[in-house]
Amino acid sequence: MVTSNVSYTKKMMAHFANPHNMGRLDNPDGVGKAGNPVCGDVMHLHIKVKNNKITDIKFQTLGCASAIATSSMVTDLAKGKTIDEALRITNARVASELGGLPPIKMHCSVLAEQALHSAIEDYRKRHPHSPAKPAAKKGSAKPKEKK
Ligand code: FES
Repeated sequence: MVTSNVSYTKKMMAHFANPHNMGRLDNPDGVGKAGNPVCGDVMHLHIKVKNNKITDIKFQTLGCASAIATSSMVTDLAKGKTIDEALRITNARVASELGGLPPIKMHCSVLAEQALHSAIEDYRKRHPHSPAKPAAKKGSAKPKEKK
């Protein structure tokens, strides 16, 4: 019999058993990938962005239970967020939203943060003129100083 001395929270197990936002998107606006060369796990993220907001997000992960659960959680956290808000989602936040991860599994949450950042970076490369922040209102520019 195989036993494990790693213990997981109920929430983490629920996201592993029933992951949210699994799959891929047709014509994504950004594609991200992150991998860990030590364990060999790989995470792919697809995002759709409209008006600077992540309107849809999907993942495909080849990896351990924690990698699946953190993929599921990071997609839940990023959906509906602006690009800037999504960039502030850290691996620590992902792990904490799952009720915590065993220390030896924290690196799995790093993949989730890296894959999200990679997808946003790809989005920005593909859409170089998209606003990083909401555009200023017309006519709000300061008048030029007279000399
Ligand atoms: S063991 Fe490598 S991502 Fe989980």
